[in-house]
Amino acid sequence: ADAAPILVAIDGPAGSGKSSVSRAAAVRLGFGILDTGAAYRSLAWTATELGVDLDDAAAVAAILDDWEYRITLRGEQRVTVRVPGADPETDPADVTAAIRAHAVSGLVSRVSKHPEVRDRLNAMFRGIVAASGLPGVVIEGRDITTVVAPDAPVRILMTASAEVRARRRAGELAGLSHEQVLADIAARDAKDALVVDFFTPAPGVTLVDTSDLDFEQSVQAVVDIVRAVQRAA
Ligand code: DC
Repeated sequence: ADAAPILVAIDGPAGSGKSSVSRAAAVRLGFGILDTGAAYRSLAWTATELGVDLDDAAAVAAILDDWEYRITLRGEQRVTVRVPGADPETDPADVTAAIRAHAVSGLVSRVSKHPEVRDRLNAMFRGIVAASGLPGVVIEGRDITTVVAPDAPVRILMTASAEVRARRRAGELAGLSHEQVLADIAARDAKDALVVDFFTPAPGVTLVDTSDLDFEQSVQAVVDIVRAVQRAA
C-alpha cells in the first residue's frame, strides 16, 4: 500500500492568495491540491437544486447520505456531483463553473454553519486525501490547520490586509467599485468568521502575510516552509 501522503494544511480568508498560491505551490512540490471550499459550494448548489432549505441542518446533512462528490487533485480543477434522484441524462453534473457564481458564494455560509455537515465533509476530505495515492496533498480551507488536519506536519495561515485583498479581487470582479468590493469582502469575512475563526493562527501554525508579497514570492514562501520541514524530517 502507498504511504500516507504528506499533508500541507493551509487556511485563510478569500483574497489572501490562498487558492492560487496553494495550487501553484502544490504543482511545484509535485503534490495534489484539495480545495475544501469547493465541497461547501457544491453542497450549497445541490441543496438549491433539490429545493432543500439551506438553514435546515438535518435536511442538508441528509443530502450527504446519497451524495457522490468528485474533485480532481491534479491538473485543472474539475468538480462533479451525483445528485440523489437526478435525471440520469444530466447526472453526474459538472459544477466546476456553477459553484463559482456570485449567487452561490453568498449562500455557502448557510450550509457550512451546520456542525453535522462540517463533521461529515471533514471525514470526506480525510478519505479523499487517504485514497489519493499521491506523495503529498496541499489541503486548503478555513479550518484545516485546526480541525481537519491538526496533526499535519506543515500548517500555514495565509493572510493579507482587507485593503490588499479588495484590490486583488477588484481585478476579478469587473464593474464594481473598490468600496463595493471592500464591503463585499468584509461581509463575507464576517459571515465566515461566525463559523470558524480563520484570522488567528492556532499554536504551531505558521503565519504567512502576503500583503507585501507578490504571487511568486507567496508561492516561494509556502514551498520554503514545506522544504524546511521535509529536510528536518
Ligand atoms: O474558499 P472558498 O471561498 O471557496 O469557500 C467557500 C465557502 O465555504 C466560504 O463561505 C467559507 C466556506 N468554507 C468553510 O466553511 N470551511 C472550509 N474548510 C472551506 C470553506
